[in-house]
Amino acid sequence: MKTIAIIATGGTIAGSGEKGKTAVYHAGEIDIASIIQTIPEINDIAYLKTFQLMNIDSNEMSSQRWIYLKEKIEEILSDDSIDGAVVTHGTDTLDETAYFLTLTLRVKKPVVITGAMRPATATSADGPFNLYQAICLAIHDEAYDQGVLALFSNTIYSGRDIQKVNNFKIDAFDQKSLGCLGYMQDNEVYFYTKTNKMHTSQTIFCDEIKYLPNVAIVYFYAGASPELLYYLASENEGIVIAGSGSGNYSQEWLKAIEDLSDAGIVFVRSSRISQGIVYDNHVFDPHSRCIPSYTLSPQKARVLLMLSLLKTHDIKQIKKYFQRY
Ligand code: SIN
Repeated sequence: MKTIAIIATGGTIAGSGEKGKTAVYHAGEIDIASIIQTIPEINDIAYLKTFQLMNIDSNEMSSQRWIYLKEKIEEILSDDSIDGAVVTHGTDTLDETAYFLTLTLRVKKPVVITGAMRPATATSADGPFNLYQAICLAIHDEAYDQGVLALFSNTIYSGRDIQKVNNFKIDAFDQKSLGCLGYMQDNEVYFYTKTNKMHTSQTIFCDEIKYLPNVAIVYFYAGASPELLYYLASENEGIVIAGSGSGNYSQEWLKAIEDLSDAGIVFVRSSRISQGIVYDNHVFDPHSRCIPSYTLSPQKARVLLMLSLLKTHDIKQIKKYFQRY
């Protein structure tokens, strides 16, 4: 049997609340060893080593915690006796952490991230089954060197493309137009596609990271004041715009973006619309001051922009990163 590290960070999968109920609970309260005890059958599929790195609601995740998580996963997986890792995480910011780890982990061994929509104390909690399947995925030979994978409700996603699309249902994740990488039925793994984008040890971001630069996200809406941009520029090296439609905004915002990019702020145009792609647009960005986010959501574009700003402030170069990763 293979040996899998279960690296716990908290979330609803470790949540505790009124017995049987699915709502009114606190995330990150139960330790991973107690959760594992509720799934005796997992001891038949792998040897498990548990690492309780934190036990937080994922809304408390931060740049420093991401860096710590990257370092610990690399350290744990450098042990020859460990074949892969499963990371348990809250679902609220799981898409961001999954992409950060996709871009920064210097590993080839499988890393699968999972969580739950119902707390551990709920009737029919979904966490134990997701954890079981995540372990089955992590021991599967085809999971090797696939970048960070995510597992929810019988479905395999890539760490790059997974998005939370429902704040209520158990089947809360999707890759939208990009589908998924595959499916699982109980312990059976069925891969169908692969991400085309570079990941983990293939990236230029997998060396040591000491800090992440400040980057903010700002939502455009009808009548939004450009003062929002000037305010954010005083605190951040980069700004991701969650624009309307294909990453659009008003002429007043365009003027502010051009002023601030002259002053060195790096802008990414993404969209508040969850489906589609943001390309270069010579109407809304006539002097190419912004980097298009392509298929990345605003929060994932922020992760890539923070890492990019560690390397360069050159917009043309950062645009290449957005095409590559
Ligand atoms: C969290 O993200 O930690 C709370 C919500 C969840 O895990 O579903």
